[in-house]
Amino acid sequence: MKKMIIQGGNKLNGSIKINGAKNSAVSLLPAAILSDEYTIIKNIPEITDIEVLKDIITLLNGKITKEKNQLIIDSSQIINTTIPKNLSNKLRASYYFMGVLLAKFKHVEIYFPGGCNFGARQIDYHLKGFEALGAKITVENEKLIIHADNLQGSEIQLPFPSVGATINLILAATKADGTTIIKNAAKEPEIINLVEFLTNMGAKITGEGTDCIKIIGVKKLKSATIKIIPDRIEAGTYIIAGALMGDKLKIKNINAEHIKSLLDTLRKMNIDYNLEDDNITISQAKNISPIQLKTSVYPGFPTDLAQPITVLLAKANGISTIQETIYQKRMGHVEYLKKMGADIEIKDNIEIIKGPIDFQGTEVLASDLRAGATLFLAALTSEQKTVISNVEFILRGYEKIVKKLSSVGANISIEEIK
Ligand code: EPU
Repeated sequence: MKKMIIQGGNKLNGSIKINGAKNSAVSLLPAAILSDEYTIIKNIPEITDIEVLKDIITLLNGKITKEKNQLIIDSSQIINTTIPKNLSNKLRASYYFMGVLLAKFKHVEIYFPGGCNFGARQIDYHLKGFEALGAKITVENEKLIIHADNLQGSEIQLPFPSVGATINLILAATKADGTTIIKNAAKEPEIINLVEFLTNMGAKITGEGTDCIKIIGVKKLKSATIKIIPDRIEAGTYIIAGALMGDKLKIKNINAEHIKSLLDTLRKMNIDYNLEDDNITISQAKNISPIQLKTSVYPGFPTDLAQPITVLLAKANGISTIQETIYQKRMGHVEYLKKMGADIEIKDNIEIIKGPIDFQGTEVLASDLRAGATLFLAALTSEQKTVISNVEFILRGYEKIVKKLSSVGANISIEEIK
């Protein structure tokens, strides 16, 4: 168990480089084993979720070599074996092995995925999609067994543009017989990154980035290379840090198009920044305007930044609201922000935030990954010391966080809890 200690109040000056996107990496690693040869994935983030996926690939007899920030994955000798509970329940993305093993072996044995707890996070769209491709699903003592005598392309209408279901069905359909069409597909940039990788391997996919994706199954997939796109949520988090405490804080290696909804929102809040190519420079904002915000699927405002931006709204002059529309329950940060002095009420799935306030350092707990990010942002602004427990959640998504924030002037450390 680890805790993060932040003595806030320091201005942040210098530059932070954004790493490869977690939510791309976590689908690209499972996708790699679809190749009958080897693949190279560049710009791998150093986060703990990647380590679990590497353990699963190794269990399946994939050979992984690390060279600087790239992984070379030899998947020529992949075997099919049960993915045990202690690996599958460590993260959400373990479920992408359903799609790849179904495509490769037409048989999968795996336990339900883990991930942050935002209320019920069902996988019914994934499973119904596999069934539409001809798979039969049984559950034995919490173990899912997915089997298809024959995987046959099909037309699948998703009830909601789920990122995970879109990815899993693309993966499963790459080697199915015939054509699969996914309607009401998710359009997130991470899906485009995955399709680029699969296309480089020889898959036949069109329509990525739109709500209708077409996959024509192929028999073999070859060697390929892919570079992971910049993490738009990590970028957004540090941009918010800049608006809170920056003194010309420069965030490097961003894709501005991917964070347009955040940048537009900052403008509405009267927050200035300087965007140049793939860098953005931002300083502590004064006279922040309150806003009404609603999360949405891409290109709308991402649910993953709704928690972090709460800290900035707590600094606005007046009452702001954030309506969470993607998850039933993603408000784990509120209790602890209130403990730090925020004035926040929750009504249904709407946060009502009264600003401006000063955050007070105290002992808090990261209830999930982005709740943890929210707390370290609030802590950076506080004149007192904040101690955040459950830091393991934060390390799942923020690479070298102590190094990155210390290098721009923050007083931050992580210690083992004895
Ligand atoms: N849903 C269902 N049934 C399904 C699939 C989804 O009801 O079969 C519901 C979910 O319960 C949720 C909504 O649909 O209410 C959206 O879920 P989606 O499948 O789009 O999300 P996900 O694939 O589980 C990914 C990211 C999340 C991010 C969401 C939305 C990964 C590993 N996770 O989750 O990232 O919030 O898309 O953009 O890619 C994070 O990084 O902090 C994070 C939670």
